[in-house]
Amino acid sequence: MAVKSDSPVIRLGLIGLGGATNQMLPTLRSHPDVRIVAAADTHPDARDGFTAACGAPAYAEVEALCRDPRVNTVYVATPHQWHKEHALIAAACGKHIIVEKPMALSLEDCDAMMQAAHRHGVHLLIGHTHSFDAPVRRMREIIRSGELGPLAMINTWSYSNFLMRPRRPEELDTSLGGGIIYNQVPHQVDMVRLLGGGMVHSVRSMTWALEPGRPTEGSHLTFLQFEDGAAASLVFSGYDYFDSDEFHFWVGESGEQKAPDAHGKARAGLRRFADAREEGAFKARAAMAVGLGGAPQPASWHHPHCGVTIVSCAGGDMRPSADGVLVYDRQGRRELQVPRGPAFPDKASVLDEMAQAIRTARAPLHDGAWGMATMEVCAAVLQSARERREIVLRHQVPVRD
Ligand SMILES: NC(=O)c1ccc[n+]([C@@H]2O[C@H](COP(=O)([O-])OP(=O)(O)OC[C@H]3O[C@@H](n4cnc5c(N)ncnc54)[C@H](O)[C@@H]3O)[C@@H](O)[C@H]2O)c1
Repeated sequence: MAVKSDSPVIRLGLIGLGGATNQMLPTLRSHPDVRIVAAADTHPDARDGFTAACGAPAYAEVEALCRDPRVNTVYVATPHQWHKEHALIAAACGKHIIVEKPMALSLEDCDAMMQAAHRHGVHLLIGHTHSFDAPVRRMREIIRSGELGPLAMINTWSYSNFLMRPRRPEELDTSLGGGIIYNQVPHQVDMVRLLGGGMVHSVRSMTWALEPGRPTEGSHLTFLQFEDGAAASLVFSGYDYFDSDEFHFWVGESGEQKAPDAHGKARAGLRRFADAREEGAFKARAAMAVGLGGAPQPASWHHPHCGVTIVSCAGGDMRPSADGVLVYDRQGRRELQVPRGPAFPDKASVLDEMAQAIRTARAPLHDGAWGMATMEVCAAVLQSARERREIVLRHQVPVRD
């Protein structure tokens, strides 16, 4: 592993010290270009936990963190509704910005974030999503190289317990950013856009809210048509019935090896709550209890993924495997090993991309325009389902490989 330098490229301030940051911590700690220098969170316990774990100051106000001259980049991992405001504060203070998915809850907010970053001359990067997964990037390289011929179809399907885990009321309200369209579909869309070159022409979708008492989208079936004639199907179902990890070597989303007998456990676990308030309070306590130890590091792990994904070109098919990419072509089936980052779960390429942008002064691939284009697809999924028609897109941008 590379040794951390005394003046790392990314001197990071963390905004929001909950589950996302905790997942990111092992990568942040091991990445040679990153040093965590401060944090901000509204909750005093989160701030105390951070200072104890990282030996760095934690602010109650986001503005105070963004004014700290030691910080040159922030990681915005607050709940969705804060992404725009926190990105705007950071941009005004001249800090580069990594913002968690979803970029924001409306295209107007995405545009405001993009304009602010442009005005203040800072990089804006939207991540993490599964388009950063190393096997997905390897498949993009293969498509670009032309070795399997022109791209035709991308099919990606994910079945999980997403909607049946304990949730706060706003996580079950689409107008507040709840449900799968704002939380899981950005992963699928970002990955499919990267593989397909970015330029989605149109979206046709159906969505469903299938569980009484959980009145938000828990499943969707979406058809994307790319401008160059390729197409994609995206399926997500979060009701804790079938688990598509069964078709992915029983490796979970983060790359962990999973037990094959956990079906229905999330759903059964919800029975312990008398009502939505009790469930929401449990979720809030659980987020706090995550602390800032970082995700436990298993003895062995695999690449992260977001379900079963099969890419079809004229000369063959391919899909992510547990440790790389499986290619099926005229010579048969072969596995290409793809190296992983040093920490679990592997999110190193988000930081690689920002470090590269700062070093070269060139916008990252997952910049504001890219993030806004992904959110345009997600918004079109909701609109298409509501209006039962195909939606033609206007804000798509190509992959800058
Ligand atoms: N890319 C991924 O795989 C991934 C995984 C998990 C979460 N996320 C994203 O990260 C974001 C946060 O999710 P989470 O699960 O960590 O939530 P969380 O509730 O666990 O943590 C949010 C933290 O932000 C703090 N906070 C809330 N409002 C604040 C404010 N105004 N100012 C400062 N701090 C504030 C809270 O006290 C809490 O500590 C969401 O947008 C989510 O979609 C992404």
